[in-house]
Amino acid sequence: MERPSEGREATSYRDARCATAGRSWVGRPVRLAGWVHRRRDLGGLLFVDLRDRSGLVQLVFGEDWTEPDALELAHGLGPEDVVRVEGEVELRPEEALNPDMATGEIEVHVRRLERLSAADSLPILVAVPPEESLPSEELRLRHRYLDLRRPGMVRHFEVRHRAVAGARAALDAEGFLEVETPLLTRRTPEGARDYVVPSRLHHGEFYALPQSPQLYKQLLMVSGFDRYYQVARCLRDEDLRADRQPEFSQIDVEMSFVGVDDVLGVGERMLAGMWRQGVGLELELPFPRMTHDEAMESYGTDKPDLRIPWRLEDFTEALVGTGFRVVDGAVEAGGRVRGLVAKGGARLSRSEVDRLAARATEHGAGGLLWLKSSEDGWSGPMARFIDDERGGRLAAEHGVEVGDVVLLVVGGDAETSRPLDAVRRAAGEALDAVDRNAHRWLWVTDFPLFERDPETGRPAAAHHPFTLPATDDPARIREDPFSVKASAYDVVYNGAELCSGSIRCHDPVLQRAILATLGLGSEEIEERFGFLLEAFRYGVPPHGGYALGVDRTVMLMLGADSIREVIAFPKTTAARGLMEGAPSPLAPGELEEFGLRFAEGPGAPRGASPS
Ligand code: AMO
Repeated sequence: MERPSEGREATSYRDARCATAGRSWVGRPVRLAGWVHRRRDLGGLLFVDLRDRSGLVQLVFGEDWTEPDALELAHGLGPEDVVRVEGEVELRPEEALNPDMATGEIEVHVRRLERLSAADSLPILVAVPPEESLPSEELRLRHRYLDLRRPGMVRHFEVRHRAVAGARAALDAEGFLEVETPLLTRRTPEGARDYVVPSRLHHGEFYALPQSPQLYKQLLMVSGFDRYYQVARCLRDEDLRADRQPEFSQIDVEMSFVGVDDVLGVGERMLAGMWRQGVGLELELPFPRMTHDEAMESYGTDKPDLRIPWRLEDFTEALVGTGFRVVDGAVEAGGRVRGLVAKGGARLSRSEVDRLAARATEHGAGGLLWLKSSEDGWSGPMARFIDDERGGRLAAEHGVEVGDVVLLVVGGDAETSRPLDAVRRAAGEALDAVDRNAHRWLWVTDFPLFERDPETGRPAAAHHPFTLPATDDPARIREDPFSVKASAYDVVYNGAELCSGSIRCHDPVLQRAILATLGLGSEEIEERFGFLLEAFRYGVPPHGGYALGVDRTVMLMLGADSIREVIAFPKTTAARGLMEGAPSPLAPGELEEFGLRFAEGPGAPRGASPS
């Protein structure tokens, strides 16, 4: 009988992948290849789960159908040996049907077996039984090729692949052209530090690895390429967190003759394609929009998590003038009383409230004021200042009901926003008020052009310096920079920023004003960005775009808790590759090739640092 063959999966070693075998194959001969996942020896019969990327299939070895040398070899198989087998697909006996397994209705009665590669004893298990936890992340990263064999990890990369394919399909359908841009380049300004590469041919000179393809994609618009995209590798030497890596991928998009609505439309349709193809979910379009000002006022952050129902409100009117010094003093000093009503929060214990207060102080608040409303009246540090009139206002103007807690921070906008965002998120968790099944998408628009650098107090680009200001007056940009808004937008999903972009400034005069406001002298502007400004002199279309963080997006699509779960070979939070050992020192001879030498003292290598 003819062997089943599953299209392109068939090779000279196999007819199909393991998990492709199904009921329709019963009674047919088949050749399969893969890894020994698990083995159970039941005396007369030997069962082996054979695994490849597609999943598992059960092999059965028995005296009646397995050739004697194959049977002997099968008894000596160890976990993760690589084998190929030939046999016949059979229906499992009724009692052995396994509805949890894609191939749970069938098994392969093996006639011939060949071991293609024997596996040593393993540093980490691939077939982790459900009751066991995974080994440490360090061990997983050190032997990443084994970690990636785990079916759970394979699924991450299948979803990632499909999501990126969904983005490509959506962009292709809208006439975008995929173009690659250089990795060896000069410094690009995305606000992080650059990775630099010494030049062997030009001693003393360095390439920078791109933080993003920002300037190249704008130059492609000057070229008339009109609609560009790229799945671009970006490199940033910044402090790492669970959702950041030193190298990561963006789906980078730029288009000409567009305004904000055009770009947002393309971005939404691309995201819908990613979610549809990645995890089979249909997103509701268009996404709601909120200005940056509104997000800061109502949520204290430009990345509001809308799965938590509460908004920030201004309690100044309701609470000022009671004689409670903390509040009255802050308001006299020009501050406000801002906070939120956490529904049902009166049930929080004292230590839970203390934990919320700790979150507030960690994020810069002087403290957290709280007011619990219960059948017996108010409790909390300012409870005795709340008379019937004040209580009535809290109920009428802010909807406070018995059983709620009001969480408050006093001070200026900058001092109250961050702590209240943290408190809102933490209280949402503590009171189980985060709707875990919700997908809350949001465009945050109209960012300010500049933000204040927390260390120097000077203007820093809120997005990047190539963003279109909402003014065409260069003097205002120089003289009153913090008042200027920008055509910049972010996609926020369940409280995380996935995508960022802007309409670009294509007027050289405004562009120079922005760069000057950032503290660059005309010589430095010429030196670093002269090529862009020159290009703008030869006919530049209005243009704009965005970049979506692929790794972060796929992480959230999968509900994974670290970006490292969706990157094949990620770095640790100390930016090390544990498996291959990167970074690694250069021998003095190799350094010379680049015209480099270690200085004595502080510049000299510091020796091994912890991973
Ligand atoms: P931005 O710097 O906001 O914009 O980056 C866009 C998106 O990239 C992702 N991202 C990261 N992901 C993982 N690790 C990192 N270290 C990291 N840094 C950023 C985020 C972010 O939203 N050139 C502009 C885009 C434009 O204006 O078109 C840019 O790079 O998901």
